[in-house]
Amino acid sequence: EKVPQPEFEGVSYPSFMPFRKKEAKNVIEDIMNVKSRDSDIIICTYAKSGTHWTYEIVNMLLRNTTELDNKSKMQSMLEAVEDLSVLEGVPSPRIMDTHCLFKYLPKQHKQKKVKIVHMIRNPKDVCVSYYYHCLKDVMINFDGTWEEFFELFMSGKLPYGSWYNYELEMERAANDFPETIFTCYYEDMKKDPIREIKKLADFLGTPCSDDTLEKIAKETSFGNMQKNKFDITVIVDGKGFIYRKGEIGDWKNHFTVAQNEKFDAQYKEEMKDSKYQITFE
Ligand code: A3P
Repeated sequence: EKVPQPEFEGVSYPSFMPFRKKEAKNVIEDIMNVKSRDSDIIICTYAKSGTHWTYEIVNMLLRNTTELDNKSKMQSMLEAVEDLSVLEGVPSPRIMDTHCLFKYLPKQHKQKKVKIVHMIRNPKDVCVSYYYHCLKDVMINFDGTWEEFFELFMSGKLPYGSWYNYELEMERAANDFPETIFTCYYEDMKKDPIREIKKLADFLGTPCSDDTLEKIAKETSFGNMQKNKFDITVIVDGKGFIYRKGEIGDWKNHFTVAQNEKFDAQYKEEMKDSKYQITFE
């Protein structure tokens, strides 16, 4: 059954448990008031940009392991945790994640200049990935066509709002706090995981051997995660839908020529001042 989408400051959210119990404004306020530790890491992503993947890599680096975590990322997703005070019982280093805008991150986390790992994915693949997600996710009220979904994405009306708004805000934040915010690109991670995991390890201050880097890359490959990682969405509809395809360029199987032109025109305009180096294939 479909549920209403909570909304705050012009952005809607999936109807996670906290939003069913509190006003969206209060859910966001509670996130902003989370008490931070110096060792915390927050993974910041727009929806469908590789959050689960980043989580596993960061977890392996911080905990010095090459095994997949058996917890669900939902337990650390700030807007989905029913009672955020449970975070106080989580041993350090804590890894949290959120799709909420940078301006809504815990205030202390920003004041103390605690680390943030940001993963960005080309928005055409994000759009396709999000479409399949929204078709299945009972916490998101969508049962339309691809054409309708495409227009919703273009107009920034999906849960978590506009991709451009999110990513441009992150870019400004990363310029303001270059030592604190590390941006990785989904496409780079996919093409050369060892090189990219090494960069992430340098940022996190968790250097590791070439052998370990190779093991982490192998364990966090799409095929291995799809096969072995517990997928919370199984609980929601009886069939997991997070590990769908995990490829670069699936948008080409979905975008019409006209949609692609429309998308490119908007992208060019919105991103005209951006320095992101996003690749679409
Ligand atoms: P697709 O729908 O294109 O397959 P998020 O974790 O932010 O919800 O992102 C989900 C997307 O990341 C899905 O994209 C999923 O398949 C992809 N993904 C998950 N694990 C991955 C991995 N290990 N390597 C590459 N892509 C992965």
